[in-house]
Amino acid sequence: MKIIVRPLDQIAALVADDVQALLASKPDAVLGMTTGTTPLTTGIFQELICREAQGQLSFASTAFINPDEQIGIGPDHEQSYYQYMKRHMLDELRTQPKEWHIPIGTAADPIAECEAIEAAIARLGGVDWQLLGIGINGHICFIEPAPSLPAKCFVTPIAEVNRELYAKDYGSLADVPTHAITYGWGTVLAARELCLVACGQHKADIVARALTGNVTPELPATIVQIHPNATIILDPEAASKLDMELLRS
Ligand code: GLP
Repeated sequence: MKIIVRPLDQIAALVADDVQALLASKPDAVLGMTTGTTPLTTGIFQELICREAQGQLSFASTAFINPDEQIGIGPDHEQSYYQYMKRHMLDELRTQPKEWHIPIGTAADPIAECEAIEAAIARLGGVDWQLLGIGINGHICFIEPAPSLPAKCFVTPIAEVNRELYAKDYGSLADVPTHAITYGWGTVLAARELCLVACGQHKADIVARALTGNVTPELPATIVQIHPNATIILDPEAASKLDMELLRS
């Protein structure tokens, strides 16, 4: 696990450099995307869009894959991760990726939808690079804290702490979906490279616990500690409660 601490305004370039280097050596890489506020507040998506516009990188041969979606929220719903990805990334690109996979929240059979994501990943030869955020309860993708976790994509209840957080986007708590489709813990572990990004003081506690605590499904982000190729990129606020010894190692 490599931990990098940088001012917020340097994080996007760092992540984009990583993606650009990967695409230079593997133009048909499989890129795992993420939603949430982090890709926007850091400017990661904007930086990737700029570099694509300037011809520094191309997604034309790549496949994008998104790890999660809220159940009951269709691709046309403005709160869907489908719309988020279109709005903040895909509609801004000059050339679309060759493929894009995202679970459909209104699929008649959500379990089959989970299997379809796993099948797409297998057919593509695995995820090369997976961008991750971290929720305030330590979730990654929608893998919520639990006594045990499925390895493969699964249907999960959304933790109440997160539903309460999303209530402002939906207008009321009652309208926030209760379940989601998400990568499994093993799906995350199987990605060849993880890039977990966190920023802000509100992430400081959970980042410290995720990176230094015991690896446990009760804090799903701890899995980055045992991934063979995980880079954690933090701004100084998100890193502020980390043990400095760990930062030096
Ligand atoms: C969201 C998504 C995750 C995301 C995480 C952190 O709800 N399901 O994929 O990474 O929570 O979000 P944020 O970056 O807004 O803190």
